[in-house]
Amino acid sequence: MQQRTVHEVTSNQADIYENLEETVIRYVSTEYRRPFAEHTVKAFGAADAFVRAAGRPVVLDSGCGTGRSSFALAARFPECVVVAVDKSEVRLSKSSSLLCDKDLLSRILFVRAELLDFWRLALSANWNIVHHAVFYPNPWPKSSEATRRFHLSPVFPAMLKLSPVTELRTNWEIYAREFAEAANIAGSAMELELSVNFESFVPLVPETAFEEKYFGAGQKLYRTMVVRKD
Ligand SMILES: C[S@@+](CC[C@H](N)C(=O)[O-])C[C@H]1O[C@@H](n2cnc3c(N)ncnc32)[C@H](O)[C@@H]1O
Repeated sequence: MQQRTVHEVTSNQADIYENLEETVIRYVSTEYRRPFAEHTVKAFGAADAFVRAAGRPVVLDSGCGTGRSSFALAARFPECVVVAVDKSEVRLSKSSSLLCDKDLLSRILFVRAELLDFWRLALSANWNIVHHAVFYPNPWPKSSEATRRFHLSPVFPAMLKLSPVTELRTNWEIYAREFAEAANIAGSAMELELSVNFESFVPLVPETAFEEKYFGAGQKLYRTMVVRKD
């Protein structure tokens, strides 16, 4: 079988986005009013019922892809339910084949939804999200696409408020550093006491399909942890 080359992220950006501060501040000081997609409102309703029936804290796996990380998170947080969200039906359809343990399976809900809407709905519903995993989000590496990155989009203030712990993993160093810088800027503008930590890391066992692919190809991996101190 032919081995596929796994390319490093390439970008015309040599450093963090030059208009980062201005962009983040603009979104902190304006309200994000994009109408919610109907399918996400419906999917959120089902997820909300699952969370309330469980009566447990929530771990949110945003952009879960094929769901390997959701399985790992359910094992790491045995007292929680995991809500695993992705917009791709194709990726989500591969998730159930990974799940064999009945306890883990009963604590994970896979949801097809748009995160930009789902996060705002979860915030308004006051979900108790103890850990928010954002593993290997699409990097949008061209500087002309930078505002599609979560931390440079209007949803970022809501994303930061969702949980006291946000864990971002990526194979693009600039993304991890930008995320950290954006969190620091938004945090102080919103008067949130945050501890923000950026590091490169080596996984003991790769926890997602993309992590395995990048790690297997010898690429460096990065993590930004944002922890609210209040
Ligand atoms: C690069 S993949 C990473 C998947 C998985 N976390 C992993 O590490 O294997 C990014 C995933 O995020 C999902 N995604 C990107 N933007 C999204 C959005 N706005 N709403 C929901 N899912 C999104 C994509 O469908 C894709 O499955």
